[in-house]
Formats: sequence, structure tokens, C-alpha cells
Amino acid sequence: PSSGNGLPNFRRKPVIIIVVGMAGSGKTTLMHRLVCHTHMRNIRGYVMNLDPAVMTLPYAANIDIRDTVKYKEVMKQFNLGPNGGILTSLNLFATKFDEVISVIERRADQLDYVLVDTPGQIEIFTWSASGAIITEAFASTFPTVVAYVVDTPRSEDPTTFMSNMLYACSILYKTKLPLILTFNKVDVAAHQFALEWMEDFETFQAAASSDQSYTSTLTQSLSLVLDEFYNNLKSVGVSAVSGVGMEAFFKTVEASAEEYMETY
Ligand code: GTP
Repeated sequence: PSSGNGLPNFRRKPVIIIVVGMAGSGKTTLMHRLVCHTHMRNIRGYVMNLDPAVMTLPYAANIDIRDTVKYKEVMKQFNLGPNGGILTSLNLFATKFDEVISVIERRADQLDYVLVDTPGQIEIFTWSASGAIITEAFASTFPTVVAYVVDTPRSEDPTTFMSNMLYACSILYKTKLPLILTFNKVDVAAHQFALEWMEDFETFQAAASSDQSYTSTLTQSLSLVLDEFYNNLKSVGVSAVSGVGMEAFFKTVEASAEEYMETY
């Protein structure tokens, strides 16, 4: 059954999409594009901003950490630098996260998705206790997926690609949630090379072998390890700037949410 916007109408809970990515991968631009897409397609979405330090957002957030925690005051009060300030702000917000979950639960039957934007410094979310608490609070209440945004043009270099994949791998094992490799900026470079490298590690090794350095040898060994990791992943190519791949993105989210329902 379909509710007219292409989404199945039997699901009562919204799917939580946690958007993470290296600084500069285009996370914020992509969030904006996704929000526009949901508006255009009549998909009912909520948007949450978890970056306390962001000055301006190109989209309107329904739930915004900045409404609750004043990052600059936290820095002053606890005598912290910028990263400590962001981390402490996130910790303070995490203590109230049950209230955030309640707000979403109350509106659950009117929402298809909740898009969650995370701090620009990826490790503040992925390697902090509060990031784990927030992720766990979502995942124990709603189907939850992680969209890992990759800067595709920058990943054309095999060694950069490898470090990016290792980081994604660590997030998969830490969150244990379905992970969508979201290859962004395909208007600049198509992500076909990445699909080929993930499909066949020998193709990747051939690309990496053009560089005879130590890291290249390491990269080749690691590609064998990552082979198993790729089997557990879904990937999609998008462009936050041109808007290409939005339908494919939401289809992949649906498939990942189903995987969540079967597994968790
Ligand atoms: P932080 O705020 O540091 O976390 O960066 P971010 O990951 O949120 O990246 P942001 O959205 O600020 O984008 C970084 C740069 O990439 C900007 O110059 C964007 O215009 C550009 N960009 C983002 N998405 C795309 C895309 O799909 N195509 C192209 N060509 N450029 C993009």
C-alpha cells in the first residue's frame, strides 16, 4: 500500500536519518537539498540540528540544540576551547534527550523521516559518549540509519578513499546501524570508480599500486579487510548542488530501514 507520495503507509514510526561526514564533505548543503526534496514531494519530515556552534543554517530546523544550549556561554562558563565547547554542549543536550524523543513520539504518526544534522567535526559526534547516548536513544525507539557523506572528487585518490572507508567502517561497528555510503558531489566526479573499487578489490589494488610507498602497500592489505565491510553496505551517488540522486537516496533509506526492522 502506498500513501501517494511513494512511501508505504503501514509504518507508524518515522525513520531517523543521522547524517555524518568529514568536514567539507557537503553535509550541510546535502541536508538543505534533502529538506527541499521532502517539501517538494510531500514527504513529511522533521529536521534536527545537533551542531551547537553553527552560525546560520540554510534550512529551518524543527528541533535545534541552539535553542537549549548556548555554545558561547558554555565555553565561557567552563573555560573551554571551541571543540571542548561543542562537546560539552552536546553532553548537556544529551541529558535532556528523552524529552526530544518524546516530542518525536508524540508526532510519530505524522512523520515519515527525521533528518539529523551533526556537528561539523565528525569525531565530536561519532567518538563521544553523548553521541553514543543520542544514537542509542534514537535506535531504541525508531528505525534508525546512518548516512555517511563522502566527498567523491576527493576520494578519487586511492589512499584518501581507503581512509574514508576505514572511518565509515569504524562508524558501522560503533553504531551497529545500517550505514548508507552517500557519495556526494557526483556533479563534479561520478562515483562509478568507487563502486568498482568496492565490487572488486583487485581493481582497487591496481589503482593503489601506482604508488609504491609504504602506505600504498598498507592500503592494498586493508582493501582485503574492507571487502567484508562493503558487503554490509548500501551506497548511493548524490549531488547536493544539482539535486541528482534524491529519489535514490530515499529509496536506499527505505531499504536500510527495512534491514533495521529485520535485524533489531
Ligand atoms: P562543515 O560545515 O565544515 O561540516 O562542512 P559540510 O560538510 O557541511 O560542507 P558544506 O555543506 O559546507 O559544503 C562544503 C563545500 O562543498 C561548499 O563549498 C559546498 O558548496 C560544496 N558542495 C557541497 N555539496 C556539493 C555538491 O554536491 N557538488 C559540488 N560541486 N559542491 C558541493
